[in-house]
Amino acid sequence: MKAVMAQQMRSIDRTAIERYGIPGIVLMENAALAVVNRVMRRIQHHNDRRAAIVCGGGNNGGDGLAVARHLHQHGLNVKLYLLTNSSKFKGDAAVNFNIIKNSGVPYMQLDDEYALHEFYADIKNTDVIIDAIFGTGIKGEVTDLSADVINAINESSGYVISVDMPSGINSDTGEVCGCAVIADETVTFVLPKIGQIVYPGKKHVGRLSIADICIPRAAIDDEDISAGYITVDDIALPVREADSHKGDYGHVLVVGGSVGFSGAPIMAAKAAMRSGAGMVTAVVPYGIYNAAAASAQEVMIKPVTDDGVGRISAKALADILTLAQKADVMVIGPGMQVYDEIFCILRNIIDSIDIPIIVDADGLNAIAQQKDLLKNSKGNIILTPHPGEMSRLTGLPIGQIQCQRIDIARDFARQHNVVMVLKGAATVTACPSGWTYINSTGNAGMATAGSGDVLTGVIAAMACQYRCFDKASYIGAFIHGLAGDKAVENKGMHGLVAGDIIEMIPAAIKYIYN
Ligand code: APR
Repeated sequence: MKAVMAQQMRSIDRTAIERYGIPGIVLMENAALAVVNRVMRRIQHHNDRRAAIVCGGGNNGGDGLAVARHLHQHGLNVKLYLLTNSSKFKGDAAVNFNIIKNSGVPYMQLDDEYALHEFYADIKNTDVIIDAIFGTGIKGEVTDLSADVINAINESSGYVISVDMPSGINSDTGEVCGCAVIADETVTFVLPKIGQIVYPGKKHVGRLSIADICIPRAAIDDEDISAGYITVDDIALPVREADSHKGDYGHVLVVGGSVGFSGAPIMAAKAAMRSGAGMVTAVVPYGIYNAAAASAQEVMIKPVTDDGVGRISAKALADILTLAQKADVMVIGPGMQVYDEIFCILRNIIDSIDIPIIVDADGLNAIAQQKDLLKNSKGNIILTPHPGEMSRLTGLPIGQIQCQRIDIARDFARQHNVVMVLKGAATVTACPSGWTYINSTGNAGMATAGSGDVLTGVIAAMACQYRCFDKASYIGAFIHGLAGDKAVENKGMHGLVAGDIIEMIPAAIKYIYN
């Protein structure tokens, strides 16, 4: 599904109001009802009846006022706390505040010590807290009263539902603006906001639900959006026909490995097999042939000339190019090491091969040292760096990469005409077209050696199925993360190893089919 920034969401709202004539107050009411729906599910489940609604002075606060009215109507013990002077509500929020006054919903302005004291005492004993302080309109840092209130919400044992955004999270970047609500769940409207699906914002969101507030689909279609949030609903895997054969599912060639790093290409190869590739050949230096052959029965292992110290020699190039003629997709880099001959091997492969080439690990480190390796690429390259490799590729510090993952991946993809799969929590797949896809699956257990090799194998198998490299990459990232999630369900998070992820790939794919 599409994912938006605050400005795009405002534009969609405006289109709905101005072009389609849907009054803003109707959208606010629909948004509030979606939140109320979630609160009532929670309350039914736990038989809780006390709700605190904490409202800021903008339209997010206006949503909160409407929520308070409905919860009051449902008979809950509602307390409404205002961080702003009620005379400052404007537009639809002012309309809702007027209804609050007329309906006798108890409210309190947090504008003196006495009120604050009561708020701090109440919030500790409240079952459900509705956070409607800031939504997409937050600017700058959260300080003073807002910061104190947010900290009190975070210290409460109450169940926290944030309206649209956890207050304090920048909806475009996911950054924490000084401090931010840590929600148990967030109800957002129409489309996910980028700040909810990337870190650190994602950690504050809790369970994310996306509510339809009856904005016409055409108002969304007319907006210029180039970001997607990849969930299971976005994946349609091709059916394996009853009369098909292995040739229909593609042949992956994995080139990699060296003495001391024999496992990397094998993990990529096994992952490609488990992801449904029809055939996989691993090209490894002679020095690791026995180890490789012994560890992967289903994979064809092709030993090639090594450089005398267990790395693939440039003399093996002719063999590799010949093998590539029979392959549909190539993976190059896992476990290769960076040495003089890798540059020659990579350059010849990139210059002369048309099939999709997924470059990982030492292949990336080589490109980082000689950027012109990409200069003759034919739009058939997928790069899969982790943030450290991305730092080497771009020369930017890892901290900056992690803060600007989407922009940096997108710029690199456009500049070099490659698909860039920037790994890490919420993997970003950026395409030369400018489209960027943020992955929803995966977990911290996958931060383990070999996990990246598995990803390249999954993407390779997908690239055999989808001629579109973008799709192969983001679907590969999704399946890889889902396999990791299934592995954690089975074995727990601690001590997960890359092999566990490989084993769960078929279960992940089965889940998608179901
Ligand atoms: N510190 C204090 N107040 C702030 C800060 C800050 N750092 N940043 C913004 N504000 C105040 C503004 O002065 C304004 O009163 O927060 C309010 C704006 O916040 P929002 O309600 O998030 O913005 P707005 O554009 O009014 O509404 C957007 O409305 O459609 C709903 O919930 C939906 O998130 C969406 C929201």
